Amino acid sequence: MNSMTKISEEQLSEQRAIAARIRVGNRGSDRSVLAFVDTYGCQQNEADSEIIRGQLNEMGYAFTDSESLADLIIINTCAVREHAEQRVLGNVGHLIHTKRAGQIIALCGCAVQQKSVRELVLKSYRHVDVMFGPHELWRLPEILEKALNAPAKIKTVEVRESDGERVDGLPTLRKDGPDAWLNVMYGCDNFCSYCVVPYIRGRERSREFRAVVDEAKLLIAAGKRKITLLGQNVNSYGRDLYGETRFSDLLRTIAELEGDFTLHFRTSHPKDASEELFRVVAEQSKVDKSLHLPFQSGSDRILAAMNRGYTAAEYLSKINRLKELAPNVSLSSDIIVGFPGETDAEFEDTLKIVGAVRFDKLFTFIYSPRPGTPAAEMPDPFTRAQKQTRFNKLIALQRSIDARRLAEHA
Ligand code: 5AD
Ligand code: SF4
Repeated sequence: MNSMTKISEEQLSEQRAIAARIRVGNRGSDRSVLAFVDTYGCQQNEADSEIIRGQLNEMGYAFTDSESLADLIIINTCAVREHAEQRVLGNVGHLIHTKRAGQIIALCGCAVQQKSVRELVLKSYRHVDVMFGPHELWRLPEILEKALNAPAKIKTVEVRESDGERVDGLPTLRKDGPDAWLNVMYGCDNFCSYCVVPYIRGRERSREFRAVVDEAKLLIAAGKRKITLLGQNVNSYGRDLYGETRFSDLLRTIAELEGDFTLHFRTSHPKDASEELFRVVAEQSKVDKSLHLPFQSGSDRILAAMNRGYTAAEYLSKINRLKELAPNVSLSSDIIVGFPGETDAEFEDTLKIVGAVRFDKLFTFIYSPRPGTPAAEMPDPFTRAQKQTRFNKLIALQRSIDARRLAEHA
């Protein structure tokens, strides 16, 4: 069990005091002060942006979707693939045309945790005023106050290398409507060799069982109808706090709460997906009958090089067991094409799994080297064009599976 630093009540109340100061300052303005929060990447980032909005709300900001009207723009970035980073930077580049005097532009989230991105922004995106990494979220009031008081040309950069701290009870402003994210844990300890997330988001930190269940009750009472439990690898939930995983237990406990809602969760790692979890999915009527179980590759050699912790046969036997228990379950998966050194024959093994399982939905990616990850150092003799050809073949196979399924249900 780890003893990660917990952010104390005093530290949080210090931030609340700064937020109140900013609120008083904002009230002095002759119109309401507007913030635009733009989010890239995964649901974890969506959930973080709800915390950012919650904090801004306490600082007296109202919200807009207009870049030109906003007094403050916060862009919550993603770094999972190079394409995600480039898309953000392209859009940040455009903001130079709409920036007004006094407007503050801030970048936060995963891309900011990468030194190379920060250096690029400082050099070539001089209209960006603030950068802060994912570990600084709880200190947003302090960071913003610093930026508001800084002379125009001075950049506020707040990024720490960290395993991550435990923080609970930050203000959250959820979007209207029936859907709600509910964080169960932060960080990731899996270290898949291609993935930058463990380096960015720190070690696994589970929230206390009671805290999660209590928040679920509040969400149900507030009329939320679709609750999604969130974590980079929800199946590890509890290991760091209780010495054993307790995700199935958590899922069952929330599913048994009174109320009219469905319960979803993301993301499951196949190596920790247990018989017990499958039983809860099968038995609990409020648990959604779709499972996202990323297998990434069908080749045992590539799976080992990815550090995934299972073989293709083990993955397939888990899927078979799940289908025995819950025949109506719908399945989705993530696949990476062109991991360093993947041969045509190894790629064919991926196609075999796609053909055998017949997923309802696939999320397919061409491997993208991420600085600092082990895979980025591995020899990669295959060209982008070869990888693209394989990728197209994979898409074509899934299309034919989709078409056949449609025909069967017609
Ligand atoms: N290159 C390509 N795809 C990646 N993913 C994660 N890291 C990379 C990478 N470096 C994919 C995986 C993961 C999904 C969220 O993104 O398939 O499951
Ligand atoms: Fe989410 Fe990973 Fe992108 Fe960060 S890098 S936003 S954790 S997908």
